[in-house]
Amino acid sequence: MLDVLTQKIHDEARQGEAYTPFINDPAQYHKKFYIESYGCQMNFSDSEIVASILQNAGFGATRNVAEADLVLLNTCSIREKAEQTVRKRLTEFRKIKQAKPGLLVGILGCMAERLKSKLLEEEHLVDLVVGPDAYRSLPGLVEEAEGGQKAVNVLLSREETYADISPVRLNSNGVSGFVSIMRGCNNMCTFCVVPFTRGRERSRDAFSIVRECQDLFDRGYKEVTLLGQNVDSYYFTPETGDSSLGKATVVVTFALLLEMVAKISPLLRVRFSTSHPKDITDDVLHVITRYENICKYIHLPVQSGSSRILQMMNRTYTREWYMAKINRIREIIPNCGISSDIIAGFCTETEQDHQDTLSLMEYSGYDLSYMFFYSERPGTLAQRRYKDDVPEAVKKRRLQEIVDLQNRLSKESNKKDQGKTFEVLIEGDSKKSEQDWMGRTSQNKVIVFSKSGNAYKKGDYVKVKVTDCTKATLLGEII
Ligand code: SAH
Ligand code: SF4
Ligand code: F3S
Repeated sequence: MLDVLTQKIHDEARQGEAYTPFINDPAQYHKKFYIESYGCQMNFSDSEIVASILQNAGFGATRNVAEADLVLLNTCSIREKAEQTVRKRLTEFRKIKQAKPGLLVGILGCMAERLKSKLLEEEHLVDLVVGPDAYRSLPGLVEEAEGGQKAVNVLLSREETYADISPVRLNSNGVSGFVSIMRGCNNMCTFCVVPFTRGRERSRDAFSIVRECQDLFDRGYKEVTLLGQNVDSYYFTPETGDSSLGKATVVVTFALLLEMVAKISPLLRVRFSTSHPKDITDDVLHVITRYENICKYIHLPVQSGSSRILQMMNRTYTREWYMAKINRIREIIPNCGISSDIIAGFCTETEQDHQDTLSLMEYSGYDLSYMFFYSERPGTLAQRRYKDDVPEAVKKRRLQEIVDLQNRLSKESNKKDQGKTFEVLIEGDSKKSEQDWMGRTSQNKVIVFSKSGNAYKKGDYVKVKVTDCTKATLLGEII
């Protein structure tokens, strides 16, 4: 069954309308837009959809604000600090707008969705406010704004996935591409603003996902990352209209989708993010082991190590349940890299809860974590139900302890790799020296190694032996 389905999907992908080339020569356009993105990878990916929509409406992308007719900020609301960054940026754009009065300024993304038309009252220089599901209406809204009216569209949708829009790759290295496979989130973690800013969860047509990945591969890309707030709940029922496929019985789960993308070519690496611990299945773990080109790396945010706090966060698993999941991953994929997100100082968190987080980090042996202190967000369940009662100084101290522990864990994990040889995908020059390459292992670790006269290029796979490490990077040599 899988083979029939994947074959069909690959055939369709091949026949599918060709994805438009990366037309990005600003000289072709009489108007230019400049876009800056904040927040998660999905926002960056959305900016590429926005670029495509605007390009079709006659706007070319520019990296130079000074020559832009339209400036867009694709914003994030996840923590208060993310919003402050955008506000600060707006004060800088105010100066530019004073010098160039015709310039239009638009706020896109999660802050637009959260604050809606209130943003127009608070930030007078803003002309457009457009939420994440309303990007198709951008050309019309820009026209309105050009006519001197403020334009707002923050309608959320239950269907919009932008499946048919081929993103204009904005800041790509030409090796790794990001592909959105779903939008929104139904999980309602109590601390989180995303369900309010991104709306209901919906999965994108599997055919269009495979087609986009195939297209990236055909253009020389060697790695795709499948994106969603909760990729493991991906669920798509194709309307095949083909009775040989047993109509209506075919369901594309995340495990099946991964497999379909992995089959494009053994030379195309497949990554994905983010997995919610409650939804990642054994099927997914088995598919990861079955395909060499599916990277052995899972981002599995724990948030807290205390079952009581996890319950208040509505994460729907306990400490023990999470530990069992880690065991399962290590059992099925022994060489798997695992990373996490952690929040310090959630409402009512005690010293013991905090110790539980530290011990769970140690148990999981994370290679990497993204660590934050709790930032209360207006409108979330936690803001309505609980008091944000951990003093800031305590939050910060706990966060520091979490960061210190993670630094030790990362270093230990890197030390264990010394002497081992990994297949590395070369992503480009290392930040520090043009004499060195930078690439990643399947486990998502960054590795830097000397080019040493070898004829390799960006996008090649090389075998690299680890000779040394820091807490953040492996150092190695080509063998
Ligand atoms: N969908 C992903 C993550 C989305 S947001 C998931 O479920 O894991 C990325 C991370 O930001 C979260 O994992 C969480 O650790 C952090 N975060 C979200 N809301 C936060 C808040 N109010 N304060 C601090 N950190 C927060
Ligand atoms: Fe937010 Fe939870 Fe959804 Fe992640 S799973 S986006 S943390 S509500
Ligand atoms: Fe931020 Fe929205 Fe992503 S709140 S983290 S940009 S989904």
